[in-house]
Amino acid sequence: MDRAPPKSFHVKSFGCQMNAYDGTRMGELLEAEGMVEAGVDTADLVVLNTCHIRERAAEKVYSDIGRLIRREAAPAPMIAVAGCVAQAEGAEIPRRAPAVDIVVGPQAYHRLPALVRAASAGGARAAIDTDMPALSKFDALPPRRRQGPGAFLTVQEGCDKFCTYCVVPYTRGAEVSRPWGAVMDEARALIDAGAREITLLGQNVNAWTAQDASGRKQGLDGLIRAIDRLPGIARIRYMTSHPNDMTQGLIDAHADVETLMPFLHLPVQAGSDRILKAMNRSHSRDSYLRLIERVRAARPDIAVSGDFIVGFPGETEADFEETLSLVRAVGHAQAFSFKYSPRPGTPAATMGDPVPAAVMDERLQRLQALLNEQQHAFNLGTVGRRIDVLIERNGKRAGQRLGKSPWLQSVIVETEAAIGEMLTVDIPAAGPNSLTGVIGRQEAA
Ligand code: SAH
Ligand code: SF4
Ligand code: F3S
Repeated sequence: MDRAPPKSFHVKSFGCQMNAYDGTRMGELLEAEGMVEAGVDTADLVVLNTCHIRERAAEKVYSDIGRLIRREAAPAPMIAVAGCVAQAEGAEIPRRAPAVDIVVGPQAYHRLPALVRAASAGGARAAIDTDMPALSKFDALPPRRRQGPGAFLTVQEGCDKFCTYCVVPYTRGAEVSRPWGAVMDEARALIDAGAREITLLGQNVNAWTAQDASGRKQGLDGLIRAIDRLPGIARIRYMTSHPNDMTQGLIDAHADVETLMPFLHLPVQAGSDRILKAMNRSHSRDSYLRLIERVRAARPDIAVSGDFIVGFPGETEADFEETLSLVRAVGHAQAFSFKYSPRPGTPAATMGDPVPAAVMDERLQRLQALLNEQQHAFNLGTVGRRIDVLIERNGKRAGQRLGKSPWLQSVIVETEAAIGEMLTVDIPAAGPNSLTGVIGRQEAA
């Protein structure tokens, strides 16, 4: 049965920054087709841009589909499931949720308009595309549109590391770097569209490598140095990095590239060598700590962030205490921590020796208490300083703006300054999750 082609769309993203980047690009693609953005309650087409990293994230999509079918403000929309659940589960999704019209994987979403047309033309079955054509999606996407001061730019996709708990190598495929020219063009387009800060993204962004315009092989540090020279750029960030791909060149860039912000998200996952080995992390506790020392030698004020998993199969109390002692040794500005979630198809899922749920809960609480304490201490360390804040959006109250410090802290400033302005502020106070910024007295000229 034919149905009216959708005129409006809504993209809901559930996952990491790369998933958010994909969500933005899908929106741009649908706008280029003449569709307009609308709310999730009324849009004719809803794209659920999913994440498969933990069970809870993956299951969210099914409760969302149920809610969309029953929504009251408008008839049920055309439903597209995109992202990493789409890649992992494919045709299983419409079998379990027949209301789904489209399934499109993270490497095939440039074909979303064609899939929407196929779904509009009707047919009993959902339109499915989970191909992994190497990078062709980037060439098929429309130019970047106007946007806020902070922009994401995916430069590298996929992962060859195969940590034993992780689905990413299966949902995103092998490590691939986008070419130099494509990345530089997109960076220029983002700056022209209003970006002042660019965050270079990749599952292992520091594994990025390509030949520059003169044919020289470059790593992420070379790319950062080239973006630093683009007129209009104020700040560069990158994430997520793998400890094994942290080159001396990249460490050196933190010492002498002024626009490269003093922030490093470098997940370690656990502090016990036995668990790191079972995770197939290919770095040790000691090599990680030495790496952090080298980074701090180059940039003493760098904010270190990380990811942690508690309750990996076989993790003993002694193993877990090594995670706590590693955290104490590093001193984090912020971090994310998760309970281990067995994922279908990964080696860890069949390892046996699970950690009981109550023990995982208790370990997560202890770890998070320590990390929260460290984050608060890091924030308090900025009190009394004068820092730069890039204003990103309006605050809760009139006359209030929210921005970011160089160390990625949220700063609340009482000001009428425009979004995208870089302000110099004094920090009189800091809480666990944000800083208070006050426009400083102007220095006498
Ligand atoms: N490429 C990045 C991030 C991958 S996913 C890296 O290697 O660090 C983001 C985080 O999710 C991981 O760092 C890990 O801490 C967590 N994670 C991944 N798989 C998980 C699982 N099965 N259970 C719990 N947490 C997981
Ligand atoms: Fe997953 Fe490990 Fe690859 Fe990170 S490095 S994406 S945790 S397999
Ligand atoms: Fe999730 Fe896929 Fe990102 S599984 S974390 S959306 S790469």
